Amino acid sequence: MRQMKIGRRTGVGLVIAVCAIALATPAAFASHAATTRTQTSSASSTAMVVAGYEIFNDYFCVSCHTLNAGGSAAYGRLGMNFDMIHAPYAAAVATVTNGLPAALPLYPTQMVGFGKVLTTTQIDDVATFIAAYSGGYTACVPCQGVTFTGFPDSSATT
Ligand code: HEC
Repeated sequence: MRQMKIGRRTGVGLVIAVCAIALATPAAFASHAATTRTQTSSASSTAMVVAGYEIFNDYFCVSCHTLNAGGSAAYGRLGMNFDMIHAPYAAAVATVTNGLPAALPLYPTQMVGFGKVLTTTQIDDVATFIAAYSGGYTACVPCQGVTFTGFPDSSATT
């Protein structure tokens, strides 16, 4: 009887440890990418941000994600609200490339992977845009007045 009790307690301990790791991982990711974000904010990143803004609109990101900086169409609710959550550059590149399975009950649908749809440059651009503007309610000043070409994004050929 006593033996069983210990076994059960160890099991609970293990579950707690796994949960702790799961909770700690995104935090580690976030602090790492905060450095990446500062490094990318050079002069050339304005062009990347604007290109990322266009991709965000042209490739349906806006249909699932809310982001003030994403413009008037960016009020999707299936995915996370980027005004509330900061997505670091590295996490954005990985997610946009490979996607993520649905995380019920928070997200009823999966995040589709765009690794075979977007070029690596486009993924880099959209990740730069998200890393720069998510997690706040900042407007994207250089994006204002930019018109979309619509899907498929013509910037893919330029
Ligand atoms: C079909 C709806 C849908 C579309 C379209 C979509 N997403 Fe998502 N996205 C989601 C969902 C749902 C999640 C959360 C998945 C999870 O956590 O399990 C997510 C997660 C993310 C994350 C991860 C953020 C983090 O901090 O972990 C990023 C970045 C992201 N999406 C960017 C994009 C971009 C860029 C596009 C367009 C190229 C896009 N999404 C298109 C639904 C979508």
